Amino acid sequence: MTTIAIIGAGKGLGLAVARRFAREGFAVALVARNQDRVDALAAELRQDGHSAAGYTPNVRDPESIRHALERATEELGPIEVLQYSPLPAKEYMRPVLETTEADLVGPIEFSVYGAVAAARQAIPGMRAIGHGTLLFVNGGSAVRPGGRVTGTSVAFAGESAYAQLLHDALADESIHVGQLIIPFGIDDGEPTHSGDSIADRLWAMHTDRGDFRVYAEPLPA
Ligand SMILES: NC(=O)c1ccc[n+]([C@@H]2O[C@H](COP(=O)([O-])OP(=O)(O)OC[C@H]3O[C@@H](n4cnc5c(N)ncnc54)[C@H](OP(=O)(O)O)[C@@H]3O)[C@@H](O)[C@H]2O)c1
Repeated sequence: MTTIAIIGAGKGLGLAVARRFAREGFAVALVARNQDRVDALAAELRQDGHSAAGYTPNVRDPESIRHALERATEELGPIEVLQYSPLPAKEYMRPVLETTEADLVGPIEFSVYGAVAAARQAIPGMRAIGHGTLLFVNGGSAVRPGGRVTGTSVAFAGESAYAQLLHDALADESIHVGQLIIPFGIDDGEPTHSGDSIADRLWAMHTDRGDFRVYAEPLPA
């Protein structure tokens, strides 16, 4: 059995993706900072007969990510799919004229350094099994910077560039890298905006291996 590691696993998209991949036979590593919450999500999955466990690094601490992914591999099985989708903090979303260089440290550690640490930890295992998928999930500000969400806009740009470079570098090794852009609020009441329907898109990105960037819906005009 291989594993999907979901970095940023909460009750929203994280759990929906966990269920979607578990249904297909994946073990699930649920990764977020709060042990009780990831343990509760893992227990829900285990009750349904799936293999799952919770891990609690802070994505702003690269060593903690490496350690968590190592443990997940030992305890659940090799990581075939890594999803990087932690929910950015509200404090990263400030208007541009109120944002200092110090305000960018958190968002960049969160979206760039954390993503690099996670990908670099997962890639050798994917090479060992001969294939894999790295999925990056971002809001619309990753492709259209928003003046009121400066930290995430700047940091998502770095994450997007890194992910696209990885896509090009790994394409010949049967490791697919994709980025899903979600330009709306998840579970905002629209049926196509549900966590479950986004999880289906992520499953399709894993199985169909299409373009690097996929839009859950076109950006508003
Ligand atoms: N929610 C939306 O409306 C929306 C809209 C567009 C795009 N997105 C994207 O969708 C993904 C999130 O989906 P969701 O909102 O449904 O979230 P979710 O799966 O319900 O939860 C994400 C989890 O990320 C964890 N997290 C936050 N900071 C972290 C850190 N420093 N280290 C480790 N884990 C951390 C949080 O758990 P802890 O607090 O326990 O760490 C949180 O439970 C993100 O990629 C986001 O950019 C969301």
